[in-house]
Amino acid sequence: MCGIVGYVGNKFVDSVLLVGLERLEYRGYDSSGIATINTGELSVCKKKGKLKMLNDCLKETGLGGNIGIGHTRWATHGEPSEKNAHPHTDCGKHLAVVHNGIIENYQQLKERLIAKGHIFESETDTEVIPHLIEEYLYEGLENAVRKAVGEIKGSYAICVISEKESDKIIVAKNGSPIIIGLGKNENFVASDITAVLPHTRDILILEDGEIAVITEKTTVIKNLQGAVVSRQAESVSMKAQDIDKGDYKFFMLKEICEQPALIEGIINSRLKNGLIVFDEMNLSNKYLARVKRIVIQACGTSWHAGMVAKYWLEKYAHIHTEVDVSSEFRYRNPIAEGDTLMLAISQSGETADTLAGIREGKSKFIKVLSIVNVMKSTIARESDGIIPIMAGPEIGVASTKAYTAQLVALYLFALYLGRLNYTIPEDEIKTKLDGLKAIPGLLNGFLKSQDTVIKCANEYFDRKNFIFLGRGINFPNALEGALKLKEISYIHSTGYPAGEFKHGPIALINETTPVVCIAPKDELYPKMVSNIQEVGARKGRIISVATEGDDRIAGISSNVIFVPECQEDISPMVTVLPLQLLAYHIAVKLGYDVDKPRNLAKSVTVE
Ligand code: M6R
Repeated sequence: MCGIVGYVGNKFVDSVLLVGLERLEYRGYDSSGIATINTGELSVCKKKGKLKMLNDCLKETGLGGNIGIGHTRWATHGEPSEKNAHPHTDCGKHLAVVHNGIIENYQQLKERLIAKGHIFESETDTEVIPHLIEEYLYEGLENAVRKAVGEIKGSYAICVISEKESDKIIVAKNGSPIIIGLGKNENFVASDITAVLPHTRDILILEDGEIAVITEKTTVIKNLQGAVVSRQAESVSMKAQDIDKGDYKFFMLKEICEQPALIEGIINSRLKNGLIVFDEMNLSNKYLARVKRIVIQACGTSWHAGMVAKYWLEKYAHIHTEVDVSSEFRYRNPIAEGDTLMLAISQSGETADTLAGIREGKSKFIKVLSIVNVMKSTIARESDGIIPIMAGPEIGVASTKAYTAQLVALYLFALYLGRLNYTIPEDEIKTKLDGLKAIPGLLNGFLKSQDTVIKCANEYFDRKNFIFLGRGINFPNALEGALKLKEISYIHSTGYPAGEFKHGPIALINETTPVVCIAPKDELYPKMVSNIQEVGARKGRIISVATEGDDRIAGISSNVIFVPECQEDISPMVTVLPLQLLAYHIAVKLGYDVDKPRNLAKSVTVE
């Protein structure tokens, strides 16, 4: 979490840092700050709240200069406040540090430094870093940073500037992402590529255990022992316009509406002459044909995509599949068998728990195939193979288009394995691909008229609780619908397998709690109808998501949101759309900042 930026060059540093922070705000937005060096003097400006607060303050009294660092925070240690906001400084206020990550041994370090006379101003773990560097500053800034990070345990990406060597930014990394953007007579640092895109597309990715010394004209990467590391710059294809909100009020709505075109694009690039291709996968068919077991590990929405994929992998490829949340998987000492493949699913490719799960798997010689959106992310780089989901930048904190893109990628992968294992006939694959190709048109049709969703939002936005029910392949969407609603509207919501509901949670039903029932026409439809009736018999308010023209469901529901008919195995790609929109319209009606929900950040790079 947290976004960090740095700049050295001839532009007005305040603006460069603010533009960068704006693009990183999705990583955290409870406070922000910048530090610059102007005519040899360090100045810091920090504000609690969204970046706008910092912006307003800097409009009045800019810091100026040609070198600076900035930070947008998602609190881990210490409440969101001005004093806990970064940058943090040493006792003399001559050097400043921004940090993304967690310093696990900060308490011991802090006690030691206080005993030596250092004065701390914040409750953060980060503040030990400038004080540690201050201790070693007599050795020069670079060596001081090297010595300081040598004592730190935990994850970090840090940028440091100092009045004493005011021409350089020192960057160090372990476990948290950081990239360097290369310009002409100027250089940039950022937690991710999007922040440097307005200026450059040439980047260097810093690896764990490395330190970079960045001046206006040079960038030198070294390891912790001080030896120079040679690294080739990479050019990224993403453009600045890719992260523009356009005419949409919120990124989330833009991203929801992008889904049909996105799915069409994925299908077009994955199908060549009727065959499914995964060019970047890097795992041979010979290896894949030996796989007897798949473990999927992921978090949040990506975990829900994994739960849907389990149905497809078992049904089409006949491979036993387990799905786990990464934060559990990483600590449960999973059994490793030679024929196990791990699928790690992550939009950002930086989620700390998922990354730890990958490392756990790799330590047991399990091969890891990652289903990622961000191609140059840590997860992508640490995996044996990748399937890029090709969703483009997802900025809204609530994941929407990444989910459907993950589903499409996983569906194609299951069919690919099915063909490899001869567990699904060729003509059936063709029929299934035809069904998939129809999805973009169906979603486009649904998006044109959102009236029934908006009506439900207007009717139920003031409720305290929501329940989401689904069965079979649509059960994960019940979890996803509940997650979307709770994260952006702060309404308590819970997702449940409809058949399990009677074993306790049905006690929650009353006349005011809306129960969203996902009931497309599929093999479990009759069972779902019975479950809906059980809710109705207890006077629950039923909002059904049902197949177009389903009068039976309409007759037993308070509200119906009809979705177009599609092949039943891929119905989650369709039924999720009204759930995303319901959450969106309720949050807008409640007046919330949909793209930046409270307490959250887009990528969770801490444990
Ligand atoms: O980047 P990842 O897919 O690894 O992120 C996983 C979760 O943190 C993420 O899906 C989160 O649950 C979203 N806010 C859901 O909308």
